[in-house]
Amino acid sequence: MGGPFKKNGYQTESFLSIPLTHHGRTLGALHLTNRKDQQPFTHEDLKVFAPITSEIAAILAQGIGFRENVRHFSLSILTSLSDALELRFPFLSGHSNRVRDLSTRIGERMGLAKSDLSALRHAAALHDVGIVGIPGNLLAKKRRLNEQETEMVRKHPFLGSKMLEGVPGMDATRRAILEHHEHFDGSGYPYGLRGDDISVAARILSVAECYDSAVSARPHRGAITPAEALQMIRGGSGTRFDPEVAQLFATTAPSH
Ligand SMILES: [Fe+2]
Repeated sequence: MGGPFKKNGYQTESFLSIPLTHHGRTLGALHLTNRKDQQPFTHEDLKVFAPITSEIAAILAQGIGFRENVRHFSLSILTSLSDALELRFPFLSGHSNRVRDLSTRIGERMGLAKSDLSALRHAAALHDVGIVGIPGNLLAKKRRLNEQETEMVRKHPFLGSKMLEGVPGMDATRRAILEHHEHFDGSGYPYGLRGDDISVAARILSVAECYDSAVSARPHRGAITPAEALQMIRGGSGTRFDPEVAQLFATTAPSH
């Protein structure tokens, strides 16, 4: 509880750290330094502060609960929007869920941490939600889009990530959505990021999204077979796709 420690001119003579726990969950710690009488902190001090720390912990728990509620509520609204998009454009039906499942499979094979996998799943499920901000007739066109139309559609990663702005705890998800059309060699959009500058979740999402789109028909083109789509992923390894992700996907793809 004691011991001198000097940093930035402030000298710590004594120190007491009390965990802030609520219903068995540790939410933080209260740190006290330098007793006024310059004596070390004692077990009596701990008893004095115990009621205060449990109150602080209860307030913290309330705040965390509120934050989680806001997060769940916002996610359910965005998921409904994404579902509505798939109803409006039947050629997108099931796309988000399939991309989520493919992405999760790759993420698990890559050994991503639980929190990274969760961010990846959310990003995959919502990766195209920004399409709600694109004029519908562009998506349904039965011809290739011209340059100006393509530019409009290319805004969807930015719009999607913008829609998640303010949702607590979604920074990694927002980043993956924003970067899901970046290419490993820097030729993608919106920023032309390359290699490791692109988040791992976005590199995974890129492969899963491209595969599922390719095996599904779109108004302006037909579908290709799973084997052809796999060949396309392999062919894009190191240019469009992260080689490690492309390789892993090739060994876990649905047609195998
Ligand atoms: Fe997209």
